[in-house]
Amino acid sequence: MAVDLLLGLQWGDEGKGKIVDVLTKNYDIIARFQGGPNAGHTLEFDGIKHVLHTIPSGIFHKNAINVVGNGVVIDPVIFKKELDKLAPFNLDIKSKLLISRKAHLILPTHRLLDAASEAAKGKAKIGSTLKGIGPTYMDKTGRNGIRVGDLEFTNWKEKYHSLATKHVKMIDFFDSKIDYDLNELETEFFDAIKTLKQLTFIDSEEYFHQVQTEGKTILAEGAQGSLLDIDFGTYPYVTSSNTTAAGACTGLGVAPGKINQVYGIFKAYTTRVGSGPFPTELFNSYGETMARVGNEFGATTGRPRRCGWLDLVALKYAVQINGVTQLMMMKSDVLSGFDKIKVCTAYTFKGKTITHFPYNIDPENVSPVYTELPGWKDDLTQMTDASQLPVALNHYIQFLENELKVPIKIVSVGPDRKQTILRN
Ligand code: GDP
Ligand code: IMO
Ligand code: MG
Repeated sequence: MAVDLLLGLQWGDEGKGKIVDVLTKNYDIIARFQGGPNAGHTLEFDGIKHVLHTIPSGIFHKNAINVVGNGVVIDPVIFKKELDKLAPFNLDIKSKLLISRKAHLILPTHRLLDAASEAAKGKAKIGSTLKGIGPTYMDKTGRNGIRVGDLEFTNWKEKYHSLATKHVKMIDFFDSKIDYDLNELETEFFDAIKTLKQLTFIDSEEYFHQVQTEGKTILAEGAQGSLLDIDFGTYPYVTSSNTTAAGACTGLGVAPGKINQVYGIFKAYTTRVGSGPFPTELFNSYGETMARVGNEFGATTGRPRRCGWLDLVALKYAVQINGVTQLMMMKSDVLSGFDKIKVCTAYTFKGKTITHFPYNIDPENVSPVYTELPGWKDDLTQMTDASQLPVALNHYIQFLENELKVPIKIVSVGPDRKQTILRN
């Protein structure tokens, strides 16, 4: 079986980009299967930091083909900016980056609708990235969307104008008073479409079938995290796609039986950006320390990320839903220096202690029950081998492995590609 998955197990930003980059040497193909430019995946090597939004994180490796699958939504304008940033690196994008004809396009009016919808919600806003993700997936499931493959037909602009006209009416309906100049947005959009059309479009499901018969290996790169999944996340404070394992099958056209390893990636603590419940969120100096040391600002929007202790109730739920076979713990270095480290091992829910992830985790229903573990003071960032890890960190890892019943195979100790420790 040739397809492995790498999935974020929390509310996103677990470090997926870094680890996909680290693992790419073992794969022929790296593929994104859902989400869009709401994602910000950070890679660091040779003293340079790269942030990718739509392009898979294997793009810097000569050995790998990168595919944007059918489940992804593409904003041509953001995509063009991403390509421009990659231009100095001579990556042979035309042959190394393939785009599914069935991927949907984010139109400028989708972005406006996202903003109008958020404004209309007031305090109840999702805190979306304002990239038009929700409205684009709504048009996909509403069977109104425009796909990459449509760009190869002459009538696509008619489809565009009819959909954009409808969107303008919807924006008026929201009465949100957002200012925009559609002509300006459309000029930018049509210009970016020209760039997109220079890339290689494929029937990606056929491509994946073919490369599997040739014995090639595929790593599917998740975006967002399991707790932002449209079905299993903290609805309605979620994104609009299936971020969990099954999303890779529908987002690439790969059969469930072909999936082999499911790598689950999590931070040694928890972060969340945007609105929604977060039981272990800290509003004290511990949370501030995590945010400062971990440099917790969104890679896409620059918003500060909310920080808190690791939530094992939520993590177990994500491990279960995805069928995780190996774990990767990120940002372990950020926890260095705390005297004690807390881990949430249960919730108090309506006066009872529970260990499963309930329907509603709003603060009025749920409060975390913590187990306290010893902290460590050592600087981990220069460590390269598992034998160097401090005793208390090993204890933390073993505690998590015992609870989750899945081995932690990678411990990340810094943002750089090299700051990655393998465990047997
Ligand atoms: P993604 O969306 O899952 O790819 O994650 P992001 O790139 O949005 O956020 C992860 C952030 O943590 C980035 O700034 C990474 O450079 C950084 N990072 C990744 N792994 C580590 C680590 O082990 N330690 C530290 N200190 N930073 C890390
Ligand atoms: P990566 O791939 C963290 C959050 C937003 C908001 C909610 C819905 O970098 O881990 P959307 O724009 O998708 O409609 O926003 O989801 N969100 C993310 N949070 N990392 C991401 O992606 C995210 N993508 C969306 O902040 O709460
Ligand atoms: Mg991110």
